[in-house]
Amino acid sequence: MHSDIAPAVRPHSLDGSAPVWDPQQYLRHAGHRTRPFLDLLNRIPELPTGPARIADLGCGPGNVTALLTERWPDARITGFDLSPQMLQRATDEHAGPTPGGGRLDFRHADLADWMPEETYDLIVSNAALQWVPSHPGSFAAWINGLRPGGTFAFQIPGNFTAPSHRLLAELCDTPRWRDRLAGHGARYIHILEPAEYLARFTELGCAVDVWETTYSQLLQGADPVLDWVKGTALRPVLTALGDDREAVDRFLAEYREALRAAYPPGPRGTVFPFRRIFAVAHKEA
Ligand SMILES: C[S@@+](CC[C@H](N)C(=O)[O-])C[C@H]1O[C@@H](n2cnc3c(N)ncnc32)[C@H](O)[C@@H]1O
Repeated sequence: MHSDIAPAVRPHSLDGSAPVWDPQQYLRHAGHRTRPFLDLLNRIPELPTGPARIADLGCGPGNVTALLTERWPDARITGFDLSPQMLQRATDEHAGPTPGGGRLDFRHADLADWMPEETYDLIVSNAALQWVPSHPGSFAAWINGLRPGGTFAFQIPGNFTAPSHRLLAELCDTPRWRDRLAGHGARYIHILEPAEYLARFTELGCAVDVWETTYSQLLQGADPVLDWVKGTALRPVLTALGDDREAVDRFLAEYREALRAAYPPGPRGTVFPFRRIFAVAHKEA
């Protein structure tokens, strides 16, 4: 039977809980996924010291981490991530000295308990904190780990009520799938609304810039929304179903049908609206 997941990237659970990531699948939509990081970068003020010390939390395959070297060519930058697959890809493609005299490296860390082990000028995170339900509880420690005049900046998807995610959660909770997949489709409920993020950072004494944007993404190809979520929101489901190819194929067929109705293709592609929340917290110098 044909499968949507190539054997080389077939998910399997490493420790029974963390989703297995597939850098190749994730990078298939790198253009749309990089745009919000550039929008975030544009709002980050000058850093207090040079060469700067920078952390990227949940760096994934490292392609957006590498963009930091363009703005801060002499910086020492470390990307932290939980996924061995993502770290391998980031290290293979981007680690090492940078042309501006800086250095880029990647380290294993769980953001649920990551604490700054040295003083940073910038801590940044793109599209990762939605996987870390406890993240608002770490803000005080992360701001504390910044040099005066430093910045903490992140972007987080705010689309957990969108059809893509609602349909996934509903399918996981149907009688057919509930026993194996209950809870796997509703991981984004831990994010805060923009005003709540703003309040958290003002309470910590920061100057804050918070905003949201809904990108009207025009995707190409057949079933492009399914292809998109295979790189992100579907990872826990694919990990949980593991090597059961028949179940994977059946689940994807049911989800595909629901997505086709919710996101019908138009003459120029399929519109996939995507809401994202941004916060830039500047620590007083
Ligand atoms: C959607 S990707 C974003 C990657 C990258 N920041 C980007 O913008 O392309 C989310 C990343 O968060 C990582 N992640 C999820 N939970 C994590 C945790 N608890 N600790 C560290 N990294 C985590 C995943 O491994 C994945 O690489």
